[in-house]
Amino acid sequence: MDMNAIEIHDLAKSFNGSPVLDEINFKVRKGEIFGYLGPNGSGKTTTMRIMLGLLKPSSGRALILGEEPDEHNGSIRSRIGVLLENNGLYERLSAYQNLLYYARLYGVPEPDRVEKIERLLEFAGLSDRRNEKTGRFSTGMKRKLGLARAMINDPEILFLDEPTSGLDPESRMLVRDLILRLSEEGGMTVFLNTHDLSEVEKVCSNAAILEGGRIRVCDTIVGLKRSHDTPVLEITLVDTEYAVRTLDILTSQDHACDCERDDRRVTVTLDDESPSTVLAMLVTNGIAAEEVKNVTKSLEAVYLDIVKRRREHE
Ligand SMILES: Nc1ncnc2c1ncn2[C@@H]1O[C@H](COP(=O)(O)OP(=O)(O)O)[C@@H](O)[C@H]1O
Ligand SMILES: [Mg+2]
Repeated sequence: MDMNAIEIHDLAKSFNGSPVLDEINFKVRKGEIFGYLGPNGSGKTTTMRIMLGLLKPSSGRALILGEEPDEHNGSIRSRIGVLLENNGLYERLSAYQNLLYYARLYGVPEPDRVEKIERLLEFAGLSDRRNEKTGRFSTGMKRKLGLARAMINDPEILFLDEPTSGLDPESRMLVRDLILRLSEEGGMTVFLNTHDLSEVEKVCSNAAILEGGRIRVCDTIVGLKRSHDTPVLEITLVDTEYAVRTLDILTSQDHACDCERDDRRVTVTLDDESPSTVLAMLVTNGIAAEEVKNVTKSLEAVYLDIVKRRREHE
C-alpha cells in the first residue's frame, strides 16, 4: 500500500517569468501533520494551489493520493478537505444551513447528513449557535465552522492555508486543538501552511521550511531540532566581574569558544567542546559558577539559523 499521501517532484512555478518556486521536492506520509513553513510571499499558497489543481506548475508534478490533481477531477476532490484563507461560508445562511449545503454538494447520503452535521457542530463547539447566521459570527467562530465545513466528506487529507492567522490567542488555541484532535482521533493527514513557528512546534509532526523559493530543510520536528540544534551552555556567575573573567578565559587564544555575555550570564555555543571541558577550564582558573544549564534552542532559533546561514552563503 502506498504510504505517501502527497508527493511533490521537482516542482517549479514562475509568474510572468519571475520564479516563485524552484526544485520543490517533498513527501507527506499518511497520518502526518505536515507544516509547510515560510515567510510571507515565500510561495506556500502557490504550492497549495498547485496541489489542489487550481494552478498549473511551470514544471514538475504533484501527486495527491497517487493522482495528479485536477480541479475537475472529482475522485480526488471527494477525498480531500480544503480550508483556504476564506472559510467558504455563506454569510446569510446559518451554521447548520452551511453544513447542510456542503453535505449535499459533496453527496453525503441523506440518512447520514443530520448526524454528521450534529457531530461537526459539536466538534467546532458551535452546537448552540447552529441557527445563527454565520455573517454575525466572530472571526474565530467562522474559522472553526470553516474547519468543520472542510471535514464534511471525511477527507483523507486536509489542506489548511494559515488556519490560525488573524485569530486572537484563545481562538488560535482552540483551532490548533481541533487540528490535533483530527489527527489523533481520525488518523487524518494534514497539510498546513503557516508562517508561525510556534504553531509548527505545537501542532506538526513534520515540517519543511520554504525560503527563497526552495525547500531548505524537511524533517520531523524532533529531527529538525536535533540536526540543526547546537547545544548551548548557560553559565550564571556570582557577579558581573566573574562573568567578564569567564568570557576572557573562554574566548582566549587557547580556548576560543563561541561566547556571549549578558550581565552575570555567559552563554557558550558548544561546537566541539563538551560541557565538562568548559567547566574544567573555569575550575582551573578558580571560577565557581552559581548555576549551569544546558539549553536547547527553540525551533525559532533553528529557523533563523537556517535563513541566516543561507544569506551568508549567497
Ligand atoms: N497569480 C499570481 N500572479 C503573479 N504573482 C503571483 C500570483 N500568485 C502569487 N504570486 C506571487 O508569488 C509569490 C508567492 O506568493 P504566495 O504563494 O501567495 O506566498 P505565501 O502564501 O507564502 O505568502 C509572491 O511574490 C506573490 O506575489
Ligand atoms: Mg499564503
